[in-house]
Amino acid sequence: MRQKILLFILLSTFLGGCSTSTTLTSNSTDTQNPTYTLADISLHNSAESCYTTISGKVYDLTTWIAVHPGGDAAILSLCGTDGSEKFNAKHGNSGSAKYELSLFYIGELAP
Ligand code: HEM
Repeated sequence: MRQKILLFILLSTFLGGCSTSTTLTSNSTDTQNPTYTLADISLHNSAESCYTTISGKVYDLTTWIAVHPGGDAAILSLCGTDGSEKFNAKHGNSGSAKYELSLFYIGELAP
């Protein structure tokens, strides 16, 4: 009888452990993109860390500053600001610039 009780306790512990670990692995927020306010973006206003927002999306352009074919000044002028007007005025019709931009996406502009 004592052995049966011990077996029951062991089985309960084992099965309880399994169901707990299953619950921990499902997290519905894992797939959501991070959001940034304009205040967050304004903190990244230099060549060391350069964030901009273009048409509601947020980009980290830090590594693009040195390699931009139109020069570093054009990108530096976007750091920490809403770059929609400048980007769209220059590259609104450029597929390659839009593609390049997509590579630096880090999240959404907070509503
Ligand atoms: C997120 C920001 C930007 C990205 C990802 C980007 C990307 C590119 C790419 C891929 C090119 C070479 C191919 C092409 O001409 O389409 C380019 C060229 C150039 N970009 Fe940008 N660009 C950005 C912002 C800007 C801004 C704000 C300006 C100026 C206001 C600018 C001025 C230029 C100039 C002058 C060229 C040289 C070729 C040309 O005259 O069209 N870019 N850029």
